[in-house]
Amino acid sequence: MGSLSITEKPHALCIPYPAQGHINPMLKLAKLLHFKGFHITFVNTEYNHKRLLKSRGPNSLNGLPSFRFETIPDGLPEPDVDATQDIPSLCESTRKTCLPHFKNLISKLNRNSEGADAQKAPPVTCIVSDGCMSFTVDAAEEFGIPEVLFWTTSACGFMCYMQYRHLVAKGITPLKDSSYITDGYLENTIDWIPGIKDIRLRDVPSFVRTTDPNDLMLDFLLGETKRASRGSAIVVNTFDALEHDVMEALSTILPPVYSIGPLNLLLNNVTDKDLKKIGSNLWKEEPECLEWLDNQEPNSVVYVNFGSITVMTSDQLIEFAWGLANSKKTFLWVIRPDLVAGDNAVLPSEFIEETKNRGLLSSWCPQEQVLAHPSIKGFLTHSGWNSTLESICGGVPMICWPFFAEQQTNCRFCCKEWGIGMEIEDVRRDRIENLVRELMDGKKGQEMKNKALEWKNLAVDAASSPNGSSLKNLDSMVNQILLSSK
Ligand code: UDX
Repeated sequence: MGSLSITEKPHALCIPYPAQGHINPMLKLAKLLHFKGFHITFVNTEYNHKRLLKSRGPNSLNGLPSFRFETIPDGLPEPDVDATQDIPSLCESTRKTCLPHFKNLISKLNRNSEGADAQKAPPVTCIVSDGCMSFTVDAAEEFGIPEVLFWTTSACGFMCYMQYRHLVAKGITPLKDSSYITDGYLENTIDWIPGIKDIRLRDVPSFVRTTDPNDLMLDFLLGETKRASRGSAIVVNTFDALEHDVMEALSTILPPVYSIGPLNLLLNNVTDKDLKKIGSNLWKEEPECLEWLDNQEPNSVVYVNFGSITVMTSDQLIEFAWGLANSKKTFLWVIRPDLVAGDNAVLPSEFIEETKNRGLLSSWCPQEQVLAHPSIKGFLTHSGWNSTLESICGGVPMICWPFFAEQQTNCRFCCKEWGIGMEIEDVRRDRIENLVRELMDGKKGQEMKNKALEWKNLAVDAASSPNGSSLKNLDSMVNQILLSSK
């Protein structure tokens, strides 16, 4: 497509769900599409646009002539402090308020295509939308252009979401009353989810744990998964070897589904330096930890990070702290400013004193580089899908403490299917200490490390060998979209 004039290029309008764990993979997919010859317009919410300018510098969103940024409002009042917004409110607000702004944006971009000035760009030929922003399907249908829905979860997590309507129809959720959460009901096994052998109810994405028939997140996901069938194509950030059975099963119930991942490895094919510079961290990155890692022994550090949304109690923070300290292992622990509910995270001074020679604390790090660093041996994680995939790409086994959403499903697959995880069921310092020791020195830790390296090799294969499944799927998806946007 290199010889096309600017107005003849295909133009993808890429819109992530406005949270860190969704913006990161969407930006990667957008860069890959740019590499494949697309003109890109990337749509952030106004709030996130401001945060990105603050965390990455005033020129960070200037973009390139063929990779531009636009904004729409998310419909919520701006919070006082920079933190991931309340997810249920954001879901409710985006699905109710964003569509007219989004359609106006498409009209504006299409008008620009007719102008003669520096803003000139091709008309929008397709939408690439987060699966949780499916109001965009209405816009695609109105403008007569194809829509790719990108589910940024694991395929297993996405499949469980797709089953929510069956869980409701069978009377499994909403739960009859709150005793169902504590009396062992969640331990029941479900053996009828396509492509998933068996899974406990507690491993199904957390929003089923409600007693409220009008629960906002349950209702939101029922709506978003229903609209998935209206997409022209579905993309999942995974690779065939890792989630073959679930991908097969998804392909029987949805429009064409493509596993195109791990996106961070696929991006190695993109060499454009200006494009590489475009980043998406909402918090200011502290790269000093990479230098610190350079000075540690290979395979000696446990890395601790709970992603962008997890919130814990200060008691849990203290149990994690003493678990780490008592393990006597070297650690890098990223504590987001808003990690502890309602308060700043305060660690006991005895903990700081005891670990000062073997622990580094940070507030936000370049995680992909950290997980690829040879000093890292294991990862204590909340099992967010991006973190899980980045860990697999680094060949790093995990201790899993899933917080919400499909993190429970990711944890189950890491521990039971892929052999690369151990779950923390109870945040107690002795339990954490034992798991960290096992991860770093134990037989099970070594087995998990070997397994993680096997998955890493398969991931590299999918993303970079000439016949790699994800590379081929990327081409097929692009061809499908180009054909259907003519
Ligand atoms: C959420 C859910 O956890 C996840 O399961 C869902 O699929 C997407 O939304 P989040 O909780 O933020 O995302 O976790 P995760 O999916 O792991 O994404 C966090 C991203 O932020 C990762 O790409 C990670 O590399 C990045 N990050 C996190 C940093 O770059 N630095 C940090 O210090 C922490």
